[in-house]
Amino acid sequence: MSHNTVRLKKATRLRGEMTVPGDKSISHRAVMFGSLAEGTTEVTNFLQGADCLSTIDCFRRLGIEIENTPERILIHGRGLHGLSAPASVLDAGNSGTTTRLLSGILAAQPFATTLTGDASIQRRPMRRIIEPLSLMGAEIASVNGNDCAPLRIVGKPLHGIHYHSPIASAQVKSSILLAGLYADGKTTVTEPALSRNHTEIMLNHFGARVVSEGTSATVEPDPVLHGRKVVVPGDISSAAFFIAAGLIVPGAEILIRNVGINPTRSGILKVAEAMGGDITYLNVRRDGEPTADLLVKHSALRGVTIEGKIIPTLIDELPVINIMAACAEGTTVVRDAADLRAKESNRIDVMARYLSAMGGDITPTQDGMIINGGRPLHGTAVDPHMDHRIAMTFAVAALIADGETAITDGEIVTVSYPDFYEELARLSR
Ligand code: S3P
Repeated sequence: MSHNTVRLKKATRLRGEMTVPGDKSISHRAVMFGSLAEGTTEVTNFLQGADCLSTIDCFRRLGIEIENTPERILIHGRGLHGLSAPASVLDAGNSGTTTRLLSGILAAQPFATTLTGDASIQRRPMRRIIEPLSLMGAEIASVNGNDCAPLRIVGKPLHGIHYHSPIASAQVKSSILLAGLYADGKTTVTEPALSRNHTEIMLNHFGARVVSEGTSATVEPDPVLHGRKVVVPGDISSAAFFIAAGLIVPGAEILIRNVGINPTRSGILKVAEAMGGDITYLNVRRDGEPTADLLVKHSALRGVTIEGKIIPTLIDELPVINIMAACAEGTTVVRDAADLRAKESNRIDVMARYLSAMGGDITPTQDGMIINGGRPLHGTAVDPHMDHRIAMTFAVAALIADGETAITDGEIVTVSYPDFYEELARLSR
């Protein structure tokens, strides 16, 4: 990836209609489950972001034929036991979802693999999957002995377990459930709070039996998965940047079409409402993964407390919610979000550093941050620390800041939103 600096100025206008790219979590899963299914899976509105392309690359190396055209992805699945040993190391790039979900699948294969990724991935914690997969009988080790990737995974026969996860993480839950497809009995994951449930919904769509009850999900082993059509909704985590921008830029009005509003993902909408944000839901559709068009208007926001069970439903949106908080009247407190430190960057420290550099009043805490809103922001240079969402968050802050905001390595946004700056420019014209 090149290291282009993206320069942004205050917006004098922000209006129009848009769609956002396909959901990243759902796009990953469509490729993975399609590869493990019998027959062809057709995916439309697939996210052509670097992360999901990493997943495609890994499955191609595992012997799956995948056709990628702008209109659709065709995955020629070979069934649960159809993967073959790759000739080289598998590279997940910047993608935690690829690394953790694929590890669960690889743990059960009749061959050994090495799975690695970029510098950000090689710093992210993998003990959270090594531990439960090892309890199932997997042989999985951190090559450098630091509990991070590269991971060496030697496939083994697995046992069903009931795992009480210490963290609400869909990547951990999904890794275990996918390993559970190959186990000798049922596998259950119980979380402290419900994380995104796309794995449960989509595995059932492909013909597996996954039962959800409260914060537990149970999968039965050895299903026959069948190739399916998957229509990927727009990614609410990408829409989040335009939701925030629409709320904070004076005079803004944006209609964002076809956004996924699965309740395990849409915490930002609840928080925006509690802050006084004017968002109207139009064309709500509730079959499968629910979607809506969102009409967002500039609003006077007020500070709120964000804590507890809502956190996993907006974890990826917290950086840009910080910018909403910086524009709000009063204080916003974020608690119970220590996992922000384990994302593509340490999002608590990185937000504190650059939001204060812009003139914001933010105090980092062990598990969140405290933001006193209403301070005027001014442009600064931001290093996104290999984190696409940090780059987009400060592009949104730039819209209300005096002077110029310069985002070094601005191209990191291609991980989840290749046309992000073009869309922002189009709506600001
Ligand atoms: C994801 C789960 C979340 C989220 C990530 C995508 C997924 O991570 O932050 O962007 O697709 O399952 P955790 O499971 O680590 O919370």
